[in-house]
Amino acid sequence: MAKTIAVVGSQWGDEGKGKIIDYLAGGADVVVRAQGGSNAGHSVVIDGKRYSLHLIPSGILNPGAENIIGNGVVFDPAGFFEELKSLESDGVNTEKIYVSDRAHVVFPWHKTLDALSEKARGAASIGTTLKGIGPCYMDKVERSGIRVCDLICEEIFREKFEAQLAAKNAIITKLYDGQPLDGASIYREFTEYAKRLAPYVRDTGLLVYDAVTSGKTVLFEGAQGSMLDLDLGTYPYVTSSHPISGGFTSGSGIGAGLIEEIIGITKAYTTRVGEGPFVTELHDETGVLIRERGHEYGVTTGRARRCGWFDGVVVRHSARINGMTGIALMLLDVLDAFDELKLCIAYEHDGEKVEHYPANLKFLSECTPVYRTLKGWKTDLSKLTSYDALPEEAKAYIAAVEEISGVPVKIVSVGPGREQTIIREDVLSSK
Ligand code: IMO
Ligand code: MG
Repeated sequence: MAKTIAVVGSQWGDEGKGKIIDYLAGGADVVVRAQGGSNAGHSVVIDGKRYSLHLIPSGILNPGAENIIGNGVVFDPAGFFEELKSLESDGVNTEKIYVSDRAHVVFPWHKTLDALSEKARGAASIGTTLKGIGPCYMDKVERSGIRVCDLICEEIFREKFEAQLAAKNAIITKLYDGQPLDGASIYREFTEYAKRLAPYVRDTGLLVYDAVTSGKTVLFEGAQGSMLDLDLGTYPYVTSSHPISGGFTSGSGIGAGLIEEIIGITKAYTTRVGEGPFVTELHDETGVLIRERGHEYGVTTGRARRCGWFDGVVVRHSARINGMTGIALMLLDVLDAFDELKLCIAYEHDGEKVEHYPANLKFLSECTPVYRTLKGWKTDLSKLTSYDALPEEAKAYIAAVEEISGVPVKIVSVGPGREQTIIREDVLSSK
């Protein structure tokens, strides 16, 4: 059992990270987000009520846990205060949230540029969430971004704001032929946010370090999924951050050696939103049935997700790049309805077997899945609470996932509720 656990998405996001974070957060002192921003859509169901979180860590639904938005997150103040308001109106205690002074701030021009650049890409568009994520990280890498510590310091903010507004309006009007943004109203809006935000701002790297070194239980909440990683995912159809376990070190200011357990949240099948390669995608009624049974529509954008069979090449890649120590197998109950289930164990390209996820997208588009077919269980799993109670066919499916990925399945989820969680190995050592 571990005191520091990273939870990462194994596939292309939407694996059910919110549910597992919420489940584990019951025994955690601190929950940390370290990358991404409002592009995440983590839903948690408690007593039948669904909560949707984007920027705020899913630990917020557990009154005991402190919640940290780390330096690697791109922080959208508009989204943050909207989310706070909605949580408060649901009676959630939102006192224990801290925001890194080093996080970069998302401004309206980032959202505008996200939309304009997507449109300009035409047929090659990425299908982003339009939350301004890419353009905000671009400024960070370019070293012109505005951080939370700048936003809450009036003098610095005015100067940086003027420079950024002028630079971005030039791009919007001259490059994209768009309408310039009204600086005065954005400035007013953001100086208002600055006042409200100041009490939440901390050197969060220090908070995380102190928590870890004093023996507290700390959960690192990944957003997106490993295949959306900027370096190791399906570039350019990726997000602009590092959703893999390594992202927690730069994104929250903690040494890599301090994370003990790395749980890959893994759907029992595969989905993807937005564009990009997807070898096991199903365009037939099986794909439609998975979508309907899994309610595979986006929490952030409402888009219908593309669905397909479990892709073991993806999860094996993901296990390796994350150093995964365990899998939480999610949405297994969605597969209740099928006579036969397929798991992709490798790809085939021009008669050759491909076992490792290729970088070249043309090569990838020519790959076809090699499947192992298992018998379905055709039983309602959603009320089962122990591994032993699972039908033999479901156990065989879980064993196949373990064999293909090389990682033990430590948690199995059979529904959205907290109670629909089967624990095979207790990964968390709580207080
Ligand atoms: P959670 O945390 C699924 C996808 C977008 C798009 C690509 C780039 O809910 O698992 P971006 O707006 O990040 O520049 O879009 O990444 N994407 C996600 N897909 N779940 C997510 O988050 C995602 N966040 C981004 O659809 O293809
Ligand atoms: Mg999502």
